[in-house]
Amino acid sequence: MSVSIHHTVVRVFLVFAMLTALTGCQPSKPEPRQTVVIPDGEIDPSIWGKAYPEEYELWKKTADPISKRTSKYKTGMDGGLITVDKLSEFPYMALLFNGWGFGAEYNEPRGHANMIRDQLEIDSSRLKAGGVCLTCKTPYAPKLQKELGLDYYKKPFKEILDKIPEKDRTLGVACIDCHSNKDMTLKISRGFTLTKALQDMGTNPDSLTRQEMRSTVCAQCHVTYAINKDAEGKSTGVYFPWQNSKWGAITIEDIIKRLRSDETVKEWKQTVTGFKMAFIRHPEFEFWTNNSVHFKAGASCADCHMPYTKAGVYKVSDHRVMSPVQNEMRACHQCHAQSPDWLKERVFSIQDRTVSMMLRSGYATATVAKLFEATHKARDAGKVIDEELYKKAKDFYEEAFYRTLFVGAENSIGFHNPTEGLRVLGDAIAFATKSEGFLRQLLAKAGVDVPIKVDLEIMKYVDERGEKKLKFNPSLEFKDPMGLQDRF
Ligand code: HEC
Ligand code: HEC
Ligand code: HEC
Ligand code: HEC
Repeated sequence: MSVSIHHTVVRVFLVFAMLTALTGCQPSKPEPRQTVVIPDGEIDPSIWGKAYPEEYELWKKTADPISKRTSKYKTGMDGGLITVDKLSEFPYMALLFNGWGFGAEYNEPRGHANMIRDQLEIDSSRLKAGGVCLTCKTPYAPKLQKELGLDYYKKPFKEILDKIPEKDRTLGVACIDCHSNKDMTLKISRGFTLTKALQDMGTNPDSLTRQEMRSTVCAQCHVTYAINKDAEGKSTGVYFPWQNSKWGAITIEDIIKRLRSDETVKEWKQTVTGFKMAFIRHPEFEFWTNNSVHFKAGASCADCHMPYTKAGVYKVSDHRVMSPVQNEMRACHQCHAQSPDWLKERVFSIQDRTVSMMLRSGYATATVAKLFEATHKARDAGKVIDEELYKKAKDFYEEAFYRTLFVGAENSIGFHNPTEGLRVLGDAIAFATKSEGFLRQLLAKAGVDVPIKVDLEIMKYVDERGEKKLKFNPSLEFKDPMGLQDRF
């Protein structure tokens, strides 16, 4: 498991030992790294880098494209130069998300240094929510939120971005987001989102252990959030939907309950059904901490994504945060003795099973969406609709939709919590299948003929994407790894 001695101590000792070896018994000069004072509120990582050049150099490398794609489902094509387009991987998403930004462009993540750059390049419909989109993208977010209040959320994205000094406008996550400048301990910089969310579920942020903080700093961003809207559809706030949950058990059931009961977070309207809905983004922290084997074993996000690495004479945390699969599974070796190939095979096999279920639940949910479209057409044509069945179908459809969305938005394709991923998708399929049954019954009663296989018109939604759509890449479209896709 992880080394518990503070690394500064290890370093001071190493430097001392080296200097002693070189200069005999003369007292060593103080370690230069210790004398650099990082001013309070300093955002510029190059200043922090004067004190900690090894971490700084590794952190800068998050801008580099990866040299070879070794992940099966993740992390860019052609060495990470081309971002992987989720809507090509999972075309059912193009249908389900049609109606707003996520249906126009939705990509797999890249290295941390790209976070603002990728926002500037993405289809502009993805930034319509306004300044609030900067919340997990810039170290200036806490300051801007405090100074601008409501305007921070509401004003156009570009207008708020322009308030950041030009040299730092595309900075991305910086040292100050995760560290105290005094002693480099880990700290939460986004009080207005994460601290509040932890308190909402009765967790005192100050009571978290160092190992827990090695995950909690990531939870400033790798979590789902809901954006509050006013009557005009302008953003007025952001929060994490954890109010019904407990540390270690933020469940999809709790999240759905919260999202469905808050009318102010219905951020978008799904074109196919016309339903106003909430959304779920990158819930890595929620998914992984919900009783996964690795969370229970006491691991942290940093154990797998920032393993210790050698930089000169120092042993440091790898600040080039990335997929362990792209990093020869080195992170796993602090706990697992198996070969990198064996471990990689385990990851891919978990992901294959997850993708199989994602496709099943995604297309099942999409089928229901199309049946709602048919139902609405029938209603418009004056057919009599059984409103009782309609209500039940809608209830179950939303339950299926949010579950499918949750696993698809989580970035590990099931690996972070394999059994939970399959459970959630299994429930999604059950809800979708029930809903389909209700709608088929309703449509039969209304005298509408429904074919056995509902035509999803997937290519229509793939083609209807925004102004800067990536070309749909059919070679990326996932065939069901279990070979059953054609039968559904
Ligand atoms: C300030 C917000 C923020 C924090 C804090 C943060 N991340 Fe990220 N992370 C992001 C964003 C945004 C992306 C996607 C960037 C893009 O695609 O342009 C990302 C991408 C990633 C990736 C994908 C990298 C790749 O090469 O594909 C990994 C892995 C990751 N983060 C892990 C972590 C871990 C582990 C932590 C905590 C130690 C963490 N992140 C903390 C915002 C954050
Ligand atoms: C036991 C090891 C382990 C732990 C703990 C872990 N991850 Fe992961 N993570 C992985 C693996 C393996 C993948 C799949 C990578 C792939 O397919 O290339 C992954 C994928 C990701 C990705 C997508 C990477 C990409 O390249 O697109 C992100 C983001 C991420 N994890 C963030 C986190 C965060 C945040 C935490 C803590 C809440 C966490 N991880 C905990 C092993 C781990
Ligand atoms: C996304 C969060 C994050 C960012 C951004 C980040 N760090 Fe870290 N850093 C960590 C984590 C997690 C650890 C491990 C801390 C622990 O084990 O207590 C760490 C550890 C360290 C340590 C202790 C020694 C070591 O390497 O384990 C130093 C020094 C450090 N970081 C410097 C920096 C500098 C300088 C920057 C900016 C260039 C930076 N960090 C940016 C998360 C981050
Ligand atoms: C901090 C220690 C630690 C790290 C780091 C770690 N693991 Fe584990 N892992 C465990 C423990 C403990 C178990 C449960 C006991 C067991 O099966 O050995 C486990 C179980 C597993 C399992 C079986 C259970 C499941 O969830 O399917 C797989 C597969 C696995 N690990 C893969 C990985 C991979 C791949 C990595 C690197 C990306 C990794 N682990 C990193 C400690 C760790």
